[in-house]
Amino acid sequence: MATQHKGTRFRLGSLALPVIQAPMAGGPSTPGLAAAVSEAGGLGFVAGGYKTAAAMRAEIEAVRGHTDKPFGVNLFVPQPSVTSPEVLQEYAASLAPDAERFGVSLGDPKHDDDDWDQKLKALLELAPAVVSFTFDLPEPSVVEALQQRGAYVIATVTDRDEALQALAAGADALCVQGPEAGGHRGTFKADAPPPLVPLHGILGELSDLEVPLIAAGGIATAEHTRAALAVGAAAVQAGTAFLRANEAGTKAVHRAALASSDRFTTTAVTRAFSGRNARGLYNEFMRRHDGDAPYGYPEIHHLTTPLRAAAAAAGEPDWLNLWAGINYRNCMEGSAASILASLAP
Ligand SMILES: Cc1cc2nc3c(=O)[nH]c(=O)nc-3n(C[C@H](O)[C@H](O)[C@H](O)COP(=O)(O)O)c2cc1C
Repeated sequence: MATQHKGTRFRLGSLALPVIQAPMAGGPSTPGLAAAVSEAGGLGFVAGGYKTAAAMRAEIEAVRGHTDKPFGVNLFVPQPSVTSPEVLQEYAASLAPDAERFGVSLGDPKHDDDDWDQKLKALLELAPAVVSFTFDLPEPSVVEALQQRGAYVIATVTDRDEALQALAAGADALCVQGPEAGGHRGTFKADAPPPLVPLHGILGELSDLEVPLIAAGGIATAEHTRAALAVGAAAVQAGTAFLRANEAGTKAVHRAALASSDRFTTTAVTRAFSGRNARGLYNEFMRRHDGDAPYGYPEIHHLTTPLRAAAAAAGEPDWLNLWAGINYRNCMEGSAASILASLAP
C-alpha cells in the first residue's frame, strides 16, 4: 500500500501556492490536469464522481505515475431519493421532443450511490493525501478512518449550519462554496434551494470557526484569490478557470461555448440536466425546462445522459450542460501551470 507522506499529514500551508484545482466530474478532471497542478505548486484533484471505483483507482494511480506531490480525491456522498416515479415520468414526457431531436432514448432514471462503498474502500487502501466530499457529509467514522490512513479530509459546505455539521463530523478543513460557483451546489439537502449569500458573506459568517476555510465560487483571477484570502480564506478552489486548460478533458463543445463571446452571454442555475441545482452557461435546454424541471438527483442525471452525450457528439451546445461559474469570461486557454500562476495571489 502506498501512502504519500509517511506519517505526516497534508497541511494547506504546505502548498507553494494556496490554489486548489476543483475536482470536476463528467470529463474535465483528468489525471494529467491534477498532476500538472500539483507539480506546479497548487493542489490537483481527481474527481471520483460518475465513475466506477475501478476507474477512480486507475486515475489515482495515473496521477501517482506523473507526480509524487500531494493531490486530492473527491467523492459525491450518496443521498436518499427525493423524487417519485410519477414525477420522473412527467419530466421524461417533457424531455421526449428533445430526445427525439437527437434520435436517442432517454436513460434509465435509476437511483444509485455512485459506487460509494467500493470507492471508500479504494481510498482507505490508496490513502491519497487529501479527500474531499460534496453533497453531504460522510459518517464521522469514515472521516476518522481516512484520517487514520493519513488523509486530510475536506467537507464542502454552503452555509453556517452545514459548516457546524462538518466540524462535528471531524473535517480538517471546509470548502466553502458560494452561489457564484460553476457546476453543482454542494448543498446537503438535495431538494432545497441553495443559500444565496455570496461567497464573501459566507466566509464572514464562518470567520469565528477554528478551521481552515477554502473559498470556492467565481475565483478566476489573482485579484479574486487575494480578495478571498483577505476575508479569511486559507486557500481558494477554482473550477471554471481550469476548464480550458490543455490538460483538462473538457468537451470541445463546452470549450468553444466558454470562449464564444456572443452565443452564451450569462450563466444561470438549473436542475434541468441533473435534478440538482447547478450553474452553467444559459442555453436553450435550460430555458425550455426552467419551469418544469423537478428535483431528483441522480435520477434525472441518468435520464438525460444519452441526450447530453448525443448533443456533445453532434457539437450542439444548446442541449447539454455547460457548467460554468459567474466569472467564466476570465477563463483562459493554456497549460494548467500557466492558469495556476494566473490565479496565484
Ligand atoms: C465542470 C464542473 C464540474 C464540477 N464537478 C465537481 C465535482 O465533481 N465535485 C465537487 O466537489 N465539485 C465540483 N464542481 C464544483 C467545484 O468544486 C467548485 O465549487 C466550483 O468550480 C467553484 O466555482 P468556479 O467554477 O466559479 O471556480 C464542479 C464545477 C465545474 C465547473
